[in-house]
Amino acid sequence: MNKVLIINGPNLNLLGRREPGIYGSESMESCLEQLRALCEIEYFQSNHEGAIIDKLHEVGFDHSFAGIVLNAGAYTHTSIAIADAIAAIELSVVEVHISNVHARESFRRESKISPVCRGVIAGFGMDSYRLGVEALMHS
Ligand code: DQA
Repeated sequence: MNKVLIINGPNLNLLGRREPGIYGSESMESCLEQLRALCEIEYFQSNHEGAIIDKLHEVGFDHSFAGIVLNAGAYTHTSIAIADAIAAIELSVVEVHISNVHARESFRRESKISPVCRGVIAGFGMDSYRLGVEALMHS
């Protein structure tokens, strides 16, 4: 159970280079290295909605995982299909965002996935991932 899957959605493959004023300059690889000191981490990133859904289905019934930390990127605000996949699976999903989505454009304030997630963490930079992992390990 000391294993967590982190899923990153679209454009998050560019972390470290993408809009550093908003998302910082740390790469996901460096973040993952630090998280792996806490527990076993599997990592999946895709720019494709269907691939994210397939991954949720693949791992979502595997109770050797404590849960899933999901940064769905912009799909957070649009994807009923990802929300349905989260509702369909058995593992807990924690929604995370690097930026404080509530302090940005109004369209980022709406999340299609929050109602089916175990909880939401937003605004702590790359530390949001660690907080998500720890929330799953301690709940
Ligand atoms: C994000 C916030 C989203 O609104 C945005 O589309 C992203 C990243 C974040 O981590 O802050 O791609 O999920």
